[in-house]
Amino acid sequence: MDELRQDHILQVGLGFWASKTLLSAVEMEVFTELAKHPEDLETLQGRLGLHPRSARDFFDALVALKFLERRDGRYYNTPGTDFFLDKRKPSYIGGVLEMANRRLYPFWSHLTTALRTGLPQNEIREGTPNPFEVLYAEPARLKEFLRAMTGVSHGANLAIARKFPWSRYRTAVDVGTAQGDLITQVALANPHMEGIGFDLPEVGPIFEEFVEMNGLSGRIKFVPGSFMQQPLPKGDVIMMGHVLHDWNLEIKRMLVRRAYEALPQGGAYIVYESIIDDDRSANAFGLLMSLNMLIETSDGFDYTGADCCAWMQGAGFRETRVEHLVGPDSMVIGIK
Ligand SMILES: C[S@@+](CC[C@H](N)C(=O)[O-])C[C@H]1O[C@@H](n2cnc3c(N)ncnc32)[C@H](O)[C@@H]1O
Repeated sequence: MDELRQDHILQVGLGFWASKTLLSAVEMEVFTELAKHPEDLETLQGRLGLHPRSARDFFDALVALKFLERRDGRYYNTPGTDFFLDKRKPSYIGGVLEMANRRLYPFWSHLTTALRTGLPQNEIREGTPNPFEVLYAEPARLKEFLRAMTGVSHGANLAIARKFPWSRYRTAVDVGTAQGDLITQVALANPHMEGIGFDLPEVGPIFEEFVEMNGLSGRIKFVPGSFMQQPLPKGDVIMMGHVLHDWNLEIKRMLVRRAYEALPQGGAYIVYESIIDDDRSANAFGLLMSLNMLIETSDGFDYTGADCCAWMQGAGFRETRVEHLVGPDSMVIGIK
């Protein structure tokens, strides 16, 4: 029993070893390289520019962590890393790991300061309280962030596209759409649906490129704007993924109100992210995400399904429910 506990403590406490090994592998495009063809140690080491001292331990650690396989002296991707971490495939979700490697990993080393001060520890440490202004000031950072969002949300987006009763509705608006993966998956799985992606104007070109790549420019449009300053575009379904957790309670309630106003009677509001369990004791990812909001925003926080249902009911929604999607993600649905 003691041994089990010790193992758990050490695994979590030194979890950054495994985490940084995977993040560096994504940074060096190990999986993209091996997706072309399997390679032996010397070739792979040479192609990626690794020091001979590190290469064998690095690749074998990735084998032990189950991100690579080794057969007859050659390294192969696993089916999972080949599908999700080959940069040239549309199924690539490594954007979020690239961002984690470059931004979150160093920022999280200041967690203790954040816990003591309640202050963010990212680029906004000295300056504007709006994280998106800083994030979007540099085009490369903007694109990295939007692609990261697709990586973190794709599984839930697929689940929403399949699980929600779309046959009852015709139009949907994805608010804070980023690259547009949610509205894209909804439209791909439901050919009768038309949609709008609503986001800050800087996001437009990256959204439109993504929608066009998916062959959906005829059914999905981008509407630029700020949900701080204007009403939301109208639709039968309003969706918000990873938006409410960026903001304080007052803005959260304002956004729920704006969603209510944009819907017709009978319309549906879908809020999704890693919604914390009502007892706040099981969804570790959701609780850690909230700490990530401590690092990344001036007053954002994650919340439970019960919290969100209460905000919806306060805005006038007559029916609310929470439905699990995948992994730590759930959606909260409000019917007007
Ligand atoms: C954390 S991302 C979530 C992206 C996407 N919904 C997802 O779940 O993957 C938040 C999104 O809200 C957008 N956003 C931030 N401030 C906004 C504003 N004032 N008006 C409209 N969109 C905004 C950002 O540009 C970004 O795309």
